[in-house]
Amino acid sequence: MKNNRRFWIVNDDVEKYINQSLPKSSDWLLPLEKYAILHNIPIMGKETKALIQLLGKLYKPVKILEIGSAIGYSALCFSEFLPTNGFIESIEIDYDLVKLARENIKKNKKEHQITIIAGDAIDVLANIQKKYDMIFIDAAKGQYEKYFNECLRLINHGGLIISDNVLYRGMVAKGDIIPRRQKVLVNKLDSYIKSVMNNKQFNSSLLSIGDGVLLSYRKDINE
Ligand SMILES: C[S@@+](CC[C@H](N)C(=O)[O-])C[C@H]1O[C@@H](n2cnc3c(N)ncnc32)[C@H](O)[C@@H]1O
Repeated sequence: MKNNRRFWIVNDDVEKYINQSLPKSSDWLLPLEKYAILHNIPIMGKETKALIQLLGKLYKPVKILEIGSAIGYSALCFSEFLPTNGFIESIEIDYDLVKLARENIKKNKKEHQITIIAGDAIDVLANIQKKYDMIFIDAAKGQYEKYFNECLRLINHGGLIISDNVLYRGMVAKGDIIPRRQKVLVNKLDSYIKSVMNNKQFNSSLLSIGDGVLLSYRKDINE
């Protein structure tokens, strides 16, 4: 995240007001936020973080899977609501970021709860055999549909899949008036949103928070 003004997909004043009203992050997360800004590394926005932390406190997921770790910031944020028996597994393709994320996790003494898995999410997901209570999708936007299809097998009934950045700077809502070079990605995200929203195994809600967050609750077997 270059800074908190990255997306502005809703009214500027409202977005600015919401951002300013959010409390400062915990002291131990601030150096990671500074590092991300300094090195232009995209991390979860402030409003998205507040939303997921609230959901985490209400929902109390024990087993969390993340697709796209970057420097480990979001995984460390999730550890704030993780119960003592909980764990987070996070997949990252960029080996420099894998190293950095592992260092940040070690520095903050969270190795017992957070594991960074190095590799391409598509390959890693195909080999996972366990199930999770919450899955956070935050990697290559053009691959969201493939990730979600793998997640169908990995998410518990009653579990939650959160897809970040699905409105892609508001472009997904703009139909034809988008630059040609963004078109393929925008069309993929549009079709991803539609397919998830119409998937009867889930109750989904699309929120204009941050860069667009899609929440998908996997219904119980008898729902
Ligand atoms: C938006 S960043 C993740 C930010 C992180 N979740 C946070 O909020 O702190 C997206 C990350 O996904 C990683 N990524 C992209 N394609 C991937 C793939 N195919 N498999 C695994 N990770 C991938 C990128 O290297 C990048 O670090």
